Amino acid sequence: MTKQVDTAMIHAAVAAASAAREKAYAPYSSFFVGAALVDADGNIHVGCNVENASYGLTNCAERAAAAAATVAGRRDIVLCVVVTDTAEPVAPCGACRQVLSECNPDMPIVCATLSGIQKMHNLAALLPQAFGPESLRKLSENS
Ligand code: THU
Repeated sequence: MTKQVDTAMIHAAVAAASAAREKAYAPYSSFFVGAALVDADGNIHVGCNVENASYGLTNCAERAAAAAATVAGRRDIVLCVVVTDTAEPVAPCGACRQVLSECNPDMPIVCATLSGIQKMHNLAALLPQAFGPESLRKLSENS
């Protein structure tokens, strides 16, 4: 049965994302981000941002977590957590919203600061009119 998103799950995912954030490689921006994706069985998949001297090759924490979940064979994501050391919680960038949407366009996203402020969003609200698999349907495929 699919795990329910509850305070215990959020707490565990925030802890995992905070630990992942410690591993962030961000020598250029010094902006360290940790992310955690929880699958339907409650497994947690983490990611951190990884920057590059060729700045445009930087990978965000959320997309790293999506890759980790995928290589673990899990795309059934029920919760995303993003942790930053900011005054206010920050929501995923546009590219990450699009990538997360491929796993679950309706997933809850908890944005948390290291100081303990949390804000809950829904991905569908953060990425309205999302481009998804349905968008690829060709005219000839319409019934
Ligand atoms: N970053 C993320 O990891 N996730 C986001 O959603 C936005 C930005 C990273 C990329 C870069 O390493 C640093 O934060 C500053 O933009």
